[in-house]
Amino acid sequence: MNVLVIHGPNLNLLGSREPDVYGRTTLEDINALLAREAQALGIELRTIQSNAEGELVTAIQEAAGWADVLIINPAAYTHTSVAIRDAIAAVDVPAIEVHLSNVHAREDFRRRSYIAPVAVGQIAGFGADSYRLALQAAQGLASRKADKA
Ligand code: DQA
Repeated sequence: MNVLVIHGPNLNLLGSREPDVYGRTTLEDINALLAREAQALGIELRTIQSNAEGELVTAIQEAAGWADVLIINPAAYTHTSVAIRDAIAAVDVPAIEVHLSNVHAREDFRRRSYIAPVAVGQIAGFGADSYRLALQAAQGLASRKADKA
């Protein structure tokens, strides 16, 4: 089973970016944690990060040939991007939306997600563990799909 993890804008700054909100864990730490967890679960994992909306759209389009499940933290584009939403809707790959922070407990504008309606579900508020939980959810999705096939 193949999982692509997509990190959106400013997540490359994790560790030093607003540590009171996002903690001190770096993106490298998160990717290393995911790699360990994926290995234990027998999942083939790829991760990418981009600050550019178009690159995220292209990554989603290209995932269609490889990934069984997408895990995406669209970061600020969650609240603005019709293009990312449409890309997820266009490909036949289930997507799990992830946020480090609890976006529903912050500013009003963060409560609106353009992605949630086209995602299987959303995991928010558990810091780096949000990604770990998403990986477990991805495994559940893929095995249910395999059972049906
Ligand atoms: C975020 C939440 C977004 O509102 C914010 O713009 C981010 C990070 C999170 O992981 O908590 O950049 O997606």
